[in-house]
Order: sequence, then structure tokens, then C-alpha cells
Amino acid sequence: MLVENKKRNKQYSENISIKSKASKPVVENLEYENIQEDKSDHKYTNMGQVLINLNVSEANILNYSNKIVNQIIADSKDMAWNDFFYWLDARFSWVFAHSINVAVLSVMMAVKRGCKKEELECIALGGLLHDVGKLLVPASIIQKKTSLDDEQMSRVKEHCEHGMSLVEGCGLSDNCKAIIIQHHERLDGSGYPFGLKSDDIHPYAKIAMIADVLDAITSYRPYRPAKSAFKAIQIIRDEGDKFSAEYVSVIERLLGEQST
Ligand SMILES: [Fe+2]
Ligand SMILES: [Fe+2]
Repeated sequence: MLVENKKRNKQYSENISIKSKASKPVVENLEYENIQEDKSDHKYTNMGQVLINLNVSEANILNYSNKIVNQIIADSKDMAWNDFFYWLDARFSWVFAHSINVAVLSVMMAVKRGCKKEELECIALGGLLHDVGKLLVPASIIQKKTSLDDEQMSRVKEHCEHGMSLVEGCGLSDNCKAIIIQHHERLDGSGYPFGLKSDDIHPYAKIAMIADVLDAITSYRPYRPAKSAFKAIQIIRDEGDKFSAEYVSVIERLLGEQST
């Protein structure tokens, strides 16, 4: 399937136009028509490889969190946002793999904090969709193998607001949407898109922002190798007041010996 998707990706144009309606998201691009038929049978490329580089100390929490995330994907089949999973995986499979990891890591932290199942499901869905707005950023920027210039970086930063416009009318809860719009905010006000400070940032977004950075640092990128979880935690801690110290401690404990 991975090879198949790579072939398909070559057909994609830079001018993808995706919009959401009150009922169901619609993808408008003639070049996509020939691959929409088999969408219902689509097997996501990176399922089963979640967190493969991380040594999670509490396997039961990892397994439970994986189960919640996989169930949300399965249960989304008839939901308005389901197309976004498909398009993320088809267009940028690594972004979808990252989204799964962010969802699982976020749910793990939330389990540890005693969240209820409904809360875990909301966090899982928010994690899966947190970067959905990247579908509206040109592929040449998302897939660029070298560092981005200021203009390109500002296009990437638009993905939080793009995400909100894409999911408008999909019926997501405000708690879930908080992850999409706020996962790049930072507690000291240095984040984007609004520069919110600690008290104004939703607790779910405080969880997701750590999962997001942790997965990014521990994953391979064309312009740098993957770093260890230990190094990732160090980098996050060195950021001082940007991240919730409470949640950083939670993920540190969850990642066990490897990160201590
Ligand atoms: Fe993001
Ligand atoms: Fe992300």
C-alpha cells in the first residue's frame, strides 16, 4: 500500500482544493477522481507501527491508548471528518503517521492524568486531526527537504487556522477543535496563531503540544536524524516555561528508563 500511495502521490497537483460543507467535507480536484473509488477500502499506511522508536515503560497504557485511537479511526468511517484521514494519509502519509503518534501519546498522558473514556476519545480525535490544515498548505512546502524561508514558514503556520476552516460544520466538539487551533500555542505566549498564554490554553492542547513536539523530535526528517526520547525530553525541558511541567513529567515517566 505504501508503494501504491507513492505512485498515487505523483498524480497530485499543487492546486488541491479541499473545503468542508455543513454536512460532509468535499474534495474538489479532478486529478483525485480516479482514486476516490477505493476510499472506503483504504488501509492506512502506518497503522501498527505507532511509537516503534520509543520505549514505553507501561505497555498496558500504550496498548489501551492504541486501542482507543484505532477505534476512533474505525468509528469515523461514516463521519464527516473521515475523508480527512484518507487525504492526509494519501497526500502526506508521514503527517498522518505523525498524527496517529500524537493521538496515542496524548491519550497516554490523559490516561495517566485520570481522564474518562469520553475525554480520551475526544483527545484521540483531536490528535488525529491536529495537522489537518496542512492539506491546504502547498505540498512543495510540506515535503521540502531543506529548511524553510520566512515566507514558507508563515504558510506552514497557517495550518492551525486552515484546520479550523476545514472541520467547520463537521460536528466536532469545541474541546476537540481546541487541539487543532491551539497545539502550537506555548504557555509563555510565544506560540501561534494567537500567542495565547497558559490560562487561556485548553488543557487538551497543553497535552497535544508536548506529544506533537516529542513525536517530531523522535522521528526522522529528511534534513535531520531522529533523536532519542531522552534527548527530546531534555529539549522540551530546556524550553522552560513553554510547556506544562506537570504534563512533561507525565510523559517522562511514561517513557520510562530510556528517558531518565
Ligand atoms: Fe501542527
Ligand atoms: Fe503536528
